[in-house]
Amino acid sequence: MYFIANWKMFGGLNSLNSIHKVLKFLKNFRKNKKIKIIYCPPSTLINPMSKKLKNTRIDVGAQNCHQNQNYGAFTGSITPFMLKNVGAKYVIIGHSENRQEGETDRLINMKIKCALKSGLKVIFCIGETSKEKKGNKTKQKLNRQLKIGLNKIKIKKNIIIAYEPIWSIGSGLIPKSKELFEIINFIRNRSGNCKVLYGGSVNPKNISELNVINNVDGYMIGGASQDPKKLIDIIKKSYI
Ligand code: 13P
Repeated sequence: MYFIANWKMFGGLNSLNSIHKVLKFLKNFRKNKKIKIIYCPPSTLINPMSKKLKNTRIDVGAQNCHQNQNYGAFTGSITPFMLKNVGAKYVIIGHSENRQEGETDRLINMKIKCALKSGLKVIFCIGETSKEKKGNKTKQKLNRQLKIGLNKIKIKKNIIIAYEPIWSIGSGLIPKSKELFEIINFIRNRSGNCKVLYGGSVNPKNISELNVINNVDGYMIGGASQDPKKLIDIIKKSYI
């Protein structure tokens, strides 16, 4: 199971202390089980965090990257290579919060290709709006995002897909189990068998309801991931 902690635009150097609790918990938790925890802090914390997490069961990822592999005159941007250089192993691409800032499916495709070329693993986010859901357009939207986002990418073993319905992010709402089960299968079939995670308002209270379906490969957690107690609770309950 994957647990991705997306800190978004939160956290300073003092937030790094909160990881100790999670590390302590992981020391004795299901030592032989495959459990993958990835912290995606703001870029400013990637280096100190990856130093802290060296030789532990937690990896570090970035929240976005530029589509250009080479250095260049792109003020404010970071290449995947630069992220790798400071300790990132993963990068989130296509998060709806960045799509809302103007990222297109084509740009996302360029970013994914560039990140993979640079040796990063990709967490590729897709999801529909509430309007699209109400208009029965969910599958159509996901299909387009997958088709263009993964265009001309033959080897997909380093891509994880996160299904994050936009209406569920930060709203406290989650999809119904039956719907989610069907969408996860839909995504897996159309992505060439990538791992598929769910993200959107995941918290210790609703994790058992989400866990009812058995085809999801893990969770992408926003708000709740900043609180180590909540994150530990989510992980524990996912293995009951
Ligand atoms: P919340 O868990 O805060 O709803 O955020 C989900 C998300 O966007 C993770 O990438």
